[in-house]
Amino acid sequence: MDIKFYEQEKVFKLDTNNTSYLIGIVDDENYIGHIYYGKKIDDYDLKYLLRIKEYPFVPSTHNREKVAFLDSLPTEFSTHGIGDYRDDAIAIETLGGHTAMQLGYVSHNIYGGKPVLEGLPSTFGTEEECITLEVLCKDKILNLNVTLIYTAFKDVDVITRSVRVTNEGSEAIYLTKIISACLDMDNNDYDLITLNGAWARERHIQRRPVGFGIQGASSMRGESGHQNHPFLALLTKNADQDKGEVYGFNFIYSGNFVATVEMAQYENIRTVIGINPYDFKWKLEAGTSFQAPEAVLVYSDEGIGGMTRNFHDLYRKHLLRGEYKNKRRPILINNWEATYFDFNTDKLLGIAKEAASLGIEMLVMDDGWFGTRNDDNCALGDWVVNEDKLPGGLKYLVDEVNRLGMKFGIWFEPEMVSLNSDLYRAHPDWAMAVPGRTASLSRNQYVLDLTRKDVIEYIYESVSAILRSANIEYVKWDMNRALSDIGSVGLPADRQGEIYHRYVLGVYELQDRLTKEFPHLLLENCSGGGARFDPGMLYYSPQIWCSDDTDAIERLEIQEGTAMIYPLSTMGAHVSDCPNHAVGRVTPFKTRGYVALAGTFGYELDVTKIPAEDRAMIPEQVKMYHKYNDLIRTGDYYRLASSAQNHRLDCWQIVSKDKTESLITCIQVLHNVNCKSRKLRVKGLEPTKRYTVEGTDGTFSGSTLMYSGILLENPWGDFKGRLIYIREC
Ligand code: GLA
Repeated sequence: MDIKFYEQEKVFKLDTNNTSYLIGIVDDENYIGHIYYGKKIDDYDLKYLLRIKEYPFVPSTHNREKVAFLDSLPTEFSTHGIGDYRDDAIAIETLGGHTAMQLGYVSHNIYGGKPVLEGLPSTFGTEEECITLEVLCKDKILNLNVTLIYTAFKDVDVITRSVRVTNEGSEAIYLTKIISACLDMDNNDYDLITLNGAWARERHIQRRPVGFGIQGASSMRGESGHQNHPFLALLTKNADQDKGEVYGFNFIYSGNFVATVEMAQYENIRTVIGINPYDFKWKLEAGTSFQAPEAVLVYSDEGIGGMTRNFHDLYRKHLLRGEYKNKRRPILINNWEATYFDFNTDKLLGIAKEAASLGIEMLVMDDGWFGTRNDDNCALGDWVVNEDKLPGGLKYLVDEVNRLGMKFGIWFEPEMVSLNSDLYRAHPDWAMAVPGRTASLSRNQYVLDLTRKDVIEYIYESVSAILRSANIEYVKWDMNRALSDIGSVGLPADRQGEIYHRYVLGVYELQDRLTKEFPHLLLENCSGGGARFDPGMLYYSPQIWCSDDTDAIERLEIQEGTAMIYPLSTMGAHVSDCPNHAVGRVTPFKTRGYVALAGTFGYELDVTKIPAEDRAMIPEQVKMYHKYNDLIRTGDYYRLASSAQNHRLDCWQIVSKDKTESLITCIQVLHNVNCKSRKLRVKGLEPTKRYTVEGTDGTFSGSTLMYSGILLENPWGDFKGRLIYIREC
């Protein structure tokens, strides 16, 4: 890793182990051009790639066609209103109502390590682990400073980017758009991957050719959402899991975002990723700054798999924090699908007793323990234990659970208020709404106005008081509706456009405080399943509930899409009862265990009621989790087959970093009657090492297993799963 500035050529070169990123300053106006991003190269004197000579009208030599120049220059950060008609990266509005701006390079700073982004989640690294470049650019007329921040990492092929805007002028200015990364490239016949879906169908992989115009993903829901994901990848047509060029972009943020690609007139491609400008208008008073969140850029010439492994390593090492960052998580049992709202202390203890005897390590009490919450129509915001359900209170229940040798966890939905709640009756103005207009309900609830300090205080105090009242070691932080009816009585008219972003900052502040006061707490984020599974939330919680769809077969596609970016250790996954509550499908208990094993692993069922033969399998599954979790949490992930593509077999593999062991999971979705077995080529092993394959005789070289493959019998029946464990001998 290195970052250098070549004074004479006015070129910056950023290197990671296998990639290079080049920026060039051009013309008397000091435009910041983008020269190159991709596989590592040796040279830096490459400003010819900006093709300045091809434009007859470079502004400094001939000002007749500045528009043509700006509309074709590959740039690091496009500005609004002066002639670059492609998607812009920054837009402002002056008090006079004008929107044009132009940036020129002023100075730069290169230093070891990486800055903390105040109030925002971001990746981190020491001076030995990463190096940062800050490029200060200025609009001289507005006196607006824009600092482009780049960090190159040593152990991963990652460049992170973010932007800080400072108003050096004497009057306020409105920021109406601020993107975190803008990347211009020539089209190379790219495909685009985005992750899309809906509730219970999150992050399905969509691959399509890039066409003219703007395409990609975005959210206007105030959260990342089930429907879209703050991620996109551009990849060459030949790219698959193992080969081809892939550019991955991920946004470390949990609110409205855009992640789009535009193919413009000359078949040049611009990718932008950042805060969605939808309803965004930030008042930047003179002398103040705005810090945009961080975008992560990964380049891999080893296909999608190479991109994935870079993201996994980056997040495991440089994003996840806290006690559980590198630790096995307790196997939990959650009572949501077991009881829904119909539970009490006795019922929970009954489940806990049975669960403890089977080796399960933590009981999580889900929705319904507070206020009058006996269904999902009321009581959000009233965070007082319902002693009718829990006689003796929380402390009694938790102590009893602890006495069984289990940890205890609890569910909250802190950002919300029910229409029918004491909190709403006392503080109707705490709910987000436009004055004079009845706000839209969703699940009979409103979103609390997290832009207000008093609301933040109330939420923090109610959650932390419960946590202080008993030995609670886990929190599931839920969020069950998207934002709408954006209005805050706490902000003046000229700051209403700040609400969406301030809301997200409020969530971050709350979780930051919580994890500081309770450093041993295991936090799991959740949003109606997986609507807030994003790297922003991962900074606060090392795991996130992946989806309300717990069916093992539906989960294959959801987990494949999620694992394309996020380490398996972050994916909340449970074994649930059958017929599955979401889809009505019946799958073998074993298969459900194998699918959940690729995540945090736990149970979501009434263990006292499931069939005895399923219950009898739990101790085996507990053993399986403890045998394989270290490997699954820390190893390299390879995708061997995708049932979303072949409709029959789903298969993934984890290889330990030292290549001494590997675990393959195969789920046969549909049986193929004509085919008794298939050859499966293993990946990622050391060709010259010798391995044993559990359940077979003899030893094999890594090369044999990888190039010739192992023979996989096709079991009779659908939804059959198996594990294949490979070990160096
Ligand atoms: C959301 C979560 C579920 C459960 C319910 C409770 O849907 O995703 O796991 O906690 O809320 O209301």
